[in-house]
Amino acid sequence: MNRISINKSSPLKGDILVPGDKSISHRAAIFASIAEGESKIKNFLRAEDCMSTLGAMRSMGIETNFKGDYLSIKGAGMKGLHEPEDVIDAGNSGTTIRLLAGLLAGQDFYCVINGDSYLRKRPMSRVVHPLTKMGAKIWGREGGDKSPLAILGSKLHGIDYDSPIASAQVKSSILLAALSAEGKTTVREPYKSRDHTERMLLAMGIRGGDVDRGFYVEGGGTLRAHDIDVPGDISSAAFFIVAALIVERSEVRIRHVGVNPTRTGILDVLIQMGANIVLENEAEVGGEPVADIIVKSSSLKGVEIKGDIIPRVIDEIPILCVAASLANGKTVIRDAGELRVKESDRIRSMTSELTKLGASVEELDDGMIIVGRESLTGNVVNSLGDHRIAMSMAVSGLIAGSETIIEGAESISISFPEFFNILSELQR
Ligand code: S3P
Repeated sequence: MNRISINKSSPLKGDILVPGDKSISHRAAIFASIAEGESKIKNFLRAEDCMSTLGAMRSMGIETNFKGDYLSIKGAGMKGLHEPEDVIDAGNSGTTIRLLAGLLAGQDFYCVINGDSYLRKRPMSRVVHPLTKMGAKIWGREGGDKSPLAILGSKLHGIDYDSPIASAQVKSSILLAALSAEGKTTVREPYKSRDHTERMLLAMGIRGGDVDRGFYVEGGGTLRAHDIDVPGDISSAAFFIVAALIVERSEVRIRHVGVNPTRTGILDVLIQMGANIVLENEAEVGGEPVADIIVKSSSLKGVEIKGDIIPRVIDEIPILCVAASLANGKTVIRDAGELRVKESDRIRSMTSELTKLGASVEELDDGMIIVGRESLTGNVVNSLGDHRIAMSMAVSGLIAGSETIIEGAESISISFPEFFNILSELQR
C-alpha cells in the first residue's frame, strides 16, 4: 500500500491547469466510438477510470490513437461494435459499467462486464431495472443488482422513465440504450443531474430535447463524428480551490475549468461560506461553459447543504467536509444518502478519517453535522480505496499541525494521477 506523507504547507501560489473532465472523457470515448467517422478529443483524461472505458471500446474493435494532446477515435457507427472476446473490465469505474450496460443492451452480441472489489459492491439495479423495462436481458449477482453483469443484446423499445434518484449515470445509461431502441425514450429525474450526455448527443446530431424534469431522444438515429475539447475537471479543481481557501496567504488561478451549471454547486456552497472566488475568461467550448477560477484564502463559516443542490455537488462533498471542519460554526449536510454507494461509503469514510485528524463530525443517515475547529492535527489516515477520500485527506494535511500520513494513496490515480505534482507546483 502506497503511503504518502503530508506536512503543513507554505502559502499556495500560482497558475495551474487541471486534467480533463472525467465525466466528459468517458462520454467522449463512448459516443465517438459509435459515431460515423473519426473524432479528435483534446485533453482526454488519461486516468484509470477513463482508460477502463477506452479499453472496453478497444476490446469491441474500436481503433483509438493518442497523438500529442489528442486522442483520435475511429467511430464504427451504431452497429459496428464487435462482441468482445473476453470479460470487459470496468475497473473501479461506476460510469463505465453503468453507461456500457445501456449501450450494450441494444447490440446484437453477448458480453460480460466486471469490475474491481469496490465496484462489485455497488448497486446496479438502478440501471438494470429501467433497461429491463426497455426489453434488455441482463443478469447479475444478487438478483441483478451486483456485477459482474452478463448482457445478451436484444431488441429494445422506448420508455418514459421517472427515475427515483437524480443520477447522471442512470440517465445516460437509459439514453444510450434509447439510441438503438424503437421509438422515443424519456428520462425524468427528481433534480437535474449533470447533463454532459444530453449536450454531447445533441452536438453529434441526435434528435432529442428537454421535457419537464428530463430529456427525450428519438431512437434509430446516427451520431456524427465530432471534435471535443475536454475542459478541466471542476471535481479535480475542487481540491485546490479548498486548499487555497484554507492555507493562509494563498492565491491560485485554475485555468480553463468546466463550469457547467450542473457541476458548480461547489462554487455556490463555498461562496455562501464566505470564500473569495472569482471567475474570469468565461467562454463556451464545444457546448460546455469554461472559465478560469481565482481563489484567495478566506475565513469560512458553516452552512446548510441539502435538497436540489446535492446532485450539483455530490462528488465534492468529501472536500467540502474539509472546508466545513475549519469553518466558523456548524455545517449540516442532508439528503446526501447517495454518498453511501460511491467508490466508498463517503459519509462513513469522511466521518472516520476526519475524526482521526481531530475534526468534530457526526454521522447522519443521509449526511453529516460538522462543527468547525481552528485547526486539525496530523495522524495516520486511510483512503479506504477511494480517490476522493485520499485527496481530501491530503488537503487536510496541508493545514494540520503535524505530519499526516495517507495510506492507500495510490487510489488517487483513478481520477487525478498528477495531483501531487500540481500541488508541489503551487508550493514552489
Ligand atoms: C457521474 C455521475 C455521478 C458522479 C460520478 C460521475 C457521471 O454518479 O458521482 O462521479 O459521469 O455520470 P451518479 O450518477 O451515481 O450520481
